[in-house]
Amino acid sequence: VYEAIDHVGIAVANLEEALAAWGRLGLGEPVIEEIPDQGVRVAMLPVGTGKIELLEPLRPDSPVGRFLERRGPGLHHVALRVDDLEAALAAAEARGLELIDRRPRTGAGGSRIAFLHPRATGGTLVELCQR
Ligand code: CO
Repeated sequence: VYEAIDHVGIAVANLEEALAAWGRLGLGEPVIEEIPDQGVRVAMLPVGTGKIELLEPLRPDSPVGRFLERRGPGLHHVALRVDDLEAALAAAEARGLELIDRRPRTGAGGSRIAFLHPRATGGTLVELCQR
């Protein structure tokens, strides 16, 4: 069951510059975290019940680094919040959707996350996220 759009992930080349730019919108205080497993430094900006997730690659050969190289900064993924990640993954697979992660991994803020392949939606990377 999908509960909400949890956050929108945006790839940026420089987190401090992106925070200055997004800060002009007057969003809430960012929570900054490094997730070495995914090769990113993340800033989560609260927006009501949702969040903007700014993603800066730690290395050029990380997934976000390669995304920036290919497509430049901007929208990277949309995260849907689910109440049961294993069940949501099983349901997606049963519907024939292509998964990147067959098992949950740890995301920002201690969340559990898994990605569907962009081919599943015709081009947009979708993250399933359980808090
Ligand atoms: Co995300």
